[in-house]
Amino acid sequence: MSNLSALERETLAAIESAPDESALEAARVAALGKKGSISALLATLGKLAPDELMTHGAAINALKDQVTEALAARRVVLKRAGLEAQLKREARDGTLPIPLPGVETGRIHPISQVMDEITAIFAEMGFAVAEGPDIESDDYNFTKLNFPPGHPAREMHDTFFFAPSGTNERKLLRTHTSPVQVRTMLSQKPPIRIICPGRTYRTDFDQTHTPMFHQVEGLVIDKSANLGNLKWVLEEFCKAFFEVPNVGMRFRPSFFPFTSPSMEVDIQCRRSGGEIRFGEGEDWLEILGCGMVHANVLHNCGIDPDEFQGFAWGMGLDRIAMLKYGLL
Ligand code: DAH
Repeated sequence: MSNLSALERETLAAIESAPDESALEAARVAALGKKGSISALLATLGKLAPDELMTHGAAINALKDQVTEALAARRVVLKRAGLEAQLKREARDGTLPIPLPGVETGRIHPISQVMDEITAIFAEMGFAVAEGPDIESDDYNFTKLNFPPGHPAREMHDTFFFAPSGTNERKLLRTHTSPVQVRTMLSQKPPIRIICPGRTYRTDFDQTHTPMFHQVEGLVIDKSANLGNLKWVLEEFCKAFFEVPNVGMRFRPSFFPFTSPSMEVDIQCRRSGGEIRFGEGEDWLEILGCGMVHANVLHNCGIDPDEFQGFAWGMGLDRIAMLKYGLL
């Protein structure tokens, strides 16, 4: 009998501590399998005397039932634990924010986007894109554009100068995109029809100015380019850029050394409720400077002013990008 209770303790302990279903199956085989310890005891029942059968036989059967129950109970526990482990493994946190597309891939900067839009509009009108370096010579940034050394208009450009190196002329960060006009006229024969988008720099920075900003320059040189053409080009551009069927424009006389006559251009707008709309309203917003290319500039760039003439304009990009995309 003490053998039986030792067997009971051992078998139940093996069942209770089985860590998984295969260990539990091994414990079942060891007790109730063909060659199992309890099966072996059951096989002896037939040989027992009737009174032994009453006591010993009943105890063996009771042990068999107890072990069968313990196996079933342990199986339930292991199944639930297995399911829980699987759920934990495959858990998804539905409250985590979904990464926005573009957060990893990046997106086009509004300035680049506006540059692309402007380029597309002018490309449709037959303009090519010209580029020049950010580090310029004084000659291309000023002198050839009819700002002679000492000219007061130079002071208005708040220029970043580099230290002179040896006998070389000191360089500067271009203060406008107009030197690209010079580069183009020096390297191409008219007719010329270009726009020059790019970075420009001035030592003028506060809450509403940045030392690096962007401009788009335009230049047309041929035998008959005139103010009427200039006006048409700018009007078509403004309608396309601000996506309106009509936009009132105001041409005010102004001064730039490289154009004569020179004008500043305002476009019609309405400001209300922190919003600005173009092509309607009684307000005006200055957007660009323009004019007929000065004969001195043509001459400085190797183009005969008696044969060719042209017009040009320069436009700040940052503010119109902010206005168009409501970034104020
Ligand atoms: N370069 C001028 C500036 O930065 C803008 C400008 C005015 C460009 C008139 C032009 C022009 O080509 O014709 O203030």
